[in-house]
Amino acid sequence: MKRLPIILDGDPGHDDAIAWVFAKADPRLNILAVTSVAGNQTIEKTTLNARRICALLGIDAPFAKGAVRPLVNPPVTAGNWHGESGLDGPKMPQPDQEMSELTASDLMAKVIRESQDPVTIISTGPLTNTAQLLLIHPEVKENIGRISIMGGGVTHGNWVPAAEFNIWEDPEAAWIVFNSGIPMTMSGLDVTEKALICPEDFPRIEGVGNQVADIVLGWLKFFYMYPMQIGYAGAPVHDPCAVLALTHPEIFQMQDLHVDVELQGELTRGETVADFRSWSDAEKNVTCVLGIDREKYIDLLIDALRTYDGREVPV
Ligand code: RIB
Ligand code: CA
Repeated sequence: MKRLPIILDGDPGHDDAIAWVFAKADPRLNILAVTSVAGNQTIEKTTLNARRICALLGIDAPFAKGAVRPLVNPPVTAGNWHGESGLDGPKMPQPDQEMSELTASDLMAKVIRESQDPVTIISTGPLTNTAQLLLIHPEVKENIGRISIMGGGVTHGNWVPAAEFNIWEDPEAAWIVFNSGIPMTMSGLDVTEKALICPEDFPRIEGVGNQVADIVLGWLKFFYMYPMQIGYAGAPVHDPCAVLALTHPEIFQMQDLHVDVELQGELTRGETVADFRSWSDAEKNVTCVLGIDREKYIDLLIDALRTYDGREVPV
């Protein structure tokens, strides 16, 4: 079976962590590298979290610390959602491998250059690292097959009314990626706020009975508290959509659209503007993920968790 070479780039972050649980569990994916980016928490915290998640899951791909801050904006963190550490909740293992000496964008360029097959970048945080990759190493673009992101939304925002956090945090980076000409899959809030994991799903997760499932349950029991306080029916576990849209497209509704990123608007900076006009001749650069079968999403989570049976690391 030909495996899809991927790079995991994120700001863990509870939902980034669960996205990586799915990615590592799928034998069709070959993780070439993992990179951290500032977003949900500072780069120091997201880097430590990322390295701990890799130790928990047994991801032994090269790891590099990414951008300290967005290209233009000052960094803003999301401690209200993810806590002071960025991954509050259950105890986690210590990192079990050295970090690469390279920057995230240089490690990305290295593994893309060395890959026999086009690489897919799965980014679940601000797009700063991917933008730096494209700016510093434009020659590797031809070996990037697709960029699948959690970010944006074609109807609304979350951090501000018009913009979703990952795009709002670094809109210039997003603009560079959306205008790169590389095919994109965008799992925006339109689908990810339907990717709810609710308290009534917790017993099924508890029933899996292995260390990774227990820790995922612990993450969810922390992560769902804030969204339920502000009116969500459960935890919007956004980031796994960026993985599953590639591996299980059958559980989603998708539409190819032209999407660009607003940089100037006082109220709309960071908005991902989709062109729904049937007569538009704008290039449909983005496969927008708009709907999900939530029950199948939970089934896939249980299946993924079961692949970690027998794995136990010291925490
Ligand atoms: O807006 C949701 C996104 O912002 C998710 O990727 C979450 O992890 C945060 O990065
Ligand atoms: Ca994230």
